[in-house]
Amino acid sequence: MTTTVWGLIIKWLIVFVLLKSNIFITSYGIYTISYYDDCHPENRPKIIVFFIREIDHTKHEGNKPRVLITGSLGQLGTGLASVMRKRYGVQNVFMSDIIKAPPNVAASGPYVFADILDFKRLQELIVTHSIDWIVHFSALLSAVGENNVPLAMRVNIEGLHNVLELSKQYKLKLFVPSTIGAFGPDSPRNPTPDLTIQRPRTIYGVSKVHAELMGEYYFHRFGMDFRSLRFPGVISADTNPGGGTTDYAVHIFHDALQTGDFTSFLRRDTRLPMMYIDDCLRSVVQFMEIPSNQLKQRTYNVTAMSFTPEELVAEVRKHVPHLKAKYEPDSRQKIADTWPEVFDDSNARADWGWKHEYDIKGLCDIMFEKLRPVYDTDSHPDNASSKDGKQKRTTA
Ligand SMILES: NC(=O)c1ccc[n+]([C@@H]2O[C@H](COP(=O)([O-])OP(=O)(O)OC[C@H]3O[C@@H](n4cnc5c(N)ncnc54)[C@H](O)[C@@H]3O)[C@@H](O)[C@H]2O)c1
Repeated sequence: MTTTVWGLIIKWLIVFVLLKSNIFITSYGIYTISYYDDCHPENRPKIIVFFIREIDHTKHEGNKPRVLITGSLGQLGTGLASVMRKRYGVQNVFMSDIIKAPPNVAASGPYVFADILDFKRLQELIVTHSIDWIVHFSALLSAVGENNVPLAMRVNIEGLHNVLELSKQYKLKLFVPSTIGAFGPDSPRNPTPDLTIQRPRTIYGVSKVHAELMGEYYFHRFGMDFRSLRFPGVISADTNPGGGTTDYAVHIFHDALQTGDFTSFLRRDTRLPMMYIDDCLRSVVQFMEIPSNQLKQRTYNVTAMSFTPEELVAEVRKHVPHLKAKYEPDSRQKIADTWPEVFDDSNARADWGWKHEYDIKGLCDIMFEKLRPVYDTDSHPDNASSKDGKQKRTTA
């Protein structure tokens, strides 16, 4: 019999004994209900329903966790902070990074300087602000990492060691995203399951496999609540991508609206898994809130769709019919050729109910809905410089 079945039997035996002794357990405390003996039998409750919830020790008073997001000024961090602040309260979510926050971010809630390589500073933040969860976003992404391997090793590997050790020391729940880049040419590429050969050929991928293995080791060895999702390419309209191999799928929307000319740095037939940012951020929150004992593994694939540059061009042309496309593969092609084409995320769907909302059509609809007003000079007279691609792209 499996451990889960034994766990259930023991749990229900405890429930039975407590029921017999008139002890009532709720998630708020333990009560005795001795008055049942005194009242008329007809007035006694016929059924007593027990809800024994796993008590999440990493949650703060009022059941709201206090969260520190590292590297929060990147493509994913700003959006996640906003989602989490709506859910857990503005003052409970601390954004951090090593760059100066733009005024809108600085005004939106707590923002602190934190270099992921500075153990003492991180320790100070965790203690001072009673942090319960860390979402560790600081990283050098695939293309950037290949251009500065020593720095990628420091940020992606040493930085991870710092958050692992601190999460163990202060009993924090730790989320570290992984990536399709954690797979390599020897992995099955269509589909790529959770558990398979992982021999990546980029420092980014190597550092992410290291993060997955170290996190799982800390979970098994020290009981630290480590969680990781392997994301595909993430596409967003509000924040710029941070130098990954899937960035072309963001650039195309800006190019379509600005110039009508798009040059893909990947070959037309390069199929890669992708996801719209709202799905990505929702997956993090949902995954972090699942009780630990419901997770059958600590690292899951998640995805929403897979497409090639040519397929994306065809979908974008439904919105911008005059779009011209060229394919001029650069060094990122070599990276993409070793990555999964289709991601198998069936375990995430089965174990904790992961479900994407945006497919390729939904993605294009929402990207144009968000970006059109940014580039549309008629509806936004202030955007007189919309022909200036650089300026527009950085404001989007
Ligand atoms: N965006 C994607 O498509 C994607 C896909 C898969 C996984 N991920 C993972 O999600 C996480 C966030 O990705 P992103 O796209 O927001 O990355 P990003 O490159 O946009 O942002 C990374 C942030 O890390 C910060 N940083 C760099 N060095 C630092 C240091 N020494 N100390 C503290 N912060 C530092 C940078 O200033 C930057 O704001 C990363 O771990 C990445 O590997 C992203």
